[in-house]
Amino acid sequence: MILIEGGNVVESRAYNFNAGPAALPLEVLQQAQEQFVDFEHTGMSLMEMSHRSKSYDNVHFETERLLRELMNIPDNYKVLFLQGGASTQFAMVPMNLLDPDRKAAYVHTGAWAGKAIKEAKLFGEVVIAASAEADQFTRIPAASELVVPPDAAYLHLTSNETIGGTQWQAFPDTGSVPLVADMSSDILCRPLNVSQFGLIYAGAQKNLGPSGVTIVVIREDLVRKPSLTVPTMLRYDTHAAKDSLYNTPPTFAIYMVNLVLKWLKAQGGTAVMEARNREKAALLYQEIDSSGGFYQGCAQPDSRSIMNVTFRIGSEELEKKFIKESEAAGFVGLKGHRDVGGLRASIYNAVPVEHVRALADFMKDFRQRNG
Ligand SMILES: Cc1ncc(COP(=O)(O)O)c(C=O)c1O
Repeated sequence: MILIEGGNVVESRAYNFNAGPAALPLEVLQQAQEQFVDFEHTGMSLMEMSHRSKSYDNVHFETERLLRELMNIPDNYKVLFLQGGASTQFAMVPMNLLDPDRKAAYVHTGAWAGKAIKEAKLFGEVVIAASAEADQFTRIPAASELVVPPDAAYLHLTSNETIGGTQWQAFPDTGSVPLVADMSSDILCRPLNVSQFGLIYAGAQKNLGPSGVTIVVIREDLVRKPSLTVPTMLRYDTHAAKDSLYNTPPTFAIYMVNLVLKWLKAQGGTAVMEARNREKAALLYQEIDSSGGFYQGCAQPDSRSIMNVTFRIGSEELEKKFIKESEAAGFVGLKGHRDVGGLRASIYNAVPVEHVRALADFMKDFRQRNG
């Protein structure tokens, strides 16, 4: 897509449907570019600055405040900025929350839940509270299907399965069992009641910013000395006690999250994001549903994600043709994950409605030419 300002071409932006790292708001990139070499007249880039400096300190704590405001995080929760991606959280959660005499409960909804389960088994006993495996992970189990031991250390779920394209539409009430959620691919896509959760984690590279920082929102009573022997850097209490400044945090990634959060706030916050995300998802699902079977949605309709729209076309040959022609038309990232194949459009917060409309139009045109 070409942007023209005053008769000049100012930016050339792809129709970016990457699953992560993913599209960032153009305004955010431009702002970062403006401040890249000289951050707020300090004579240096933010990247060149001490993480103990006043300038960085302002960015760090402002980012936390923005996240608290946008997610409406209650005061009895800590916000942490960690490294190692969401994959490290697959281990940190059981390492910190699981005691030897208790079980960890997991809902198995697909590829990412599976990885979290595999990792938890390294540290203790895991029970599967519900699984969608029998349905090839095309749906999210209903709350009534969950069987959670009342003394479980926690119940873990994956709020959005990035590869399968399924998403929890509402979260289960787990009573006194802390609910832990991997929200890597849908954090801030809609308003959330944080107090329903004991712990939320998310890698930043989909809805929050670039890769390199992982957000953890943890209820204070869960920040404690782990029962297991856990390396200092992998303990939540280490980072909570030092406001994520125990060691050098990923300063530039946090700064980018800061800009994304300011952008999100200026757009109107999570309620506006949800409306926009639903509009975008509807454009694609409508094309899929009205295609007379030419396109087949992978997720069952009541479990469909508003972040990752997964679909197939009758033959692999046609799918290859779709990818090739879509790339030639300027669309990026529509190939499904290598483990499952098919097609996937990731339509995170920063993906503009117009780009999704262009994709829906392309899909319609492709169907008419090949159906
Ligand atoms: C839902 C989900 N969880 C975890 C991960 C792994 O994240 P990371 O690469 O930051 O470790 C991803 C990455 O795509 C994801 O989509």
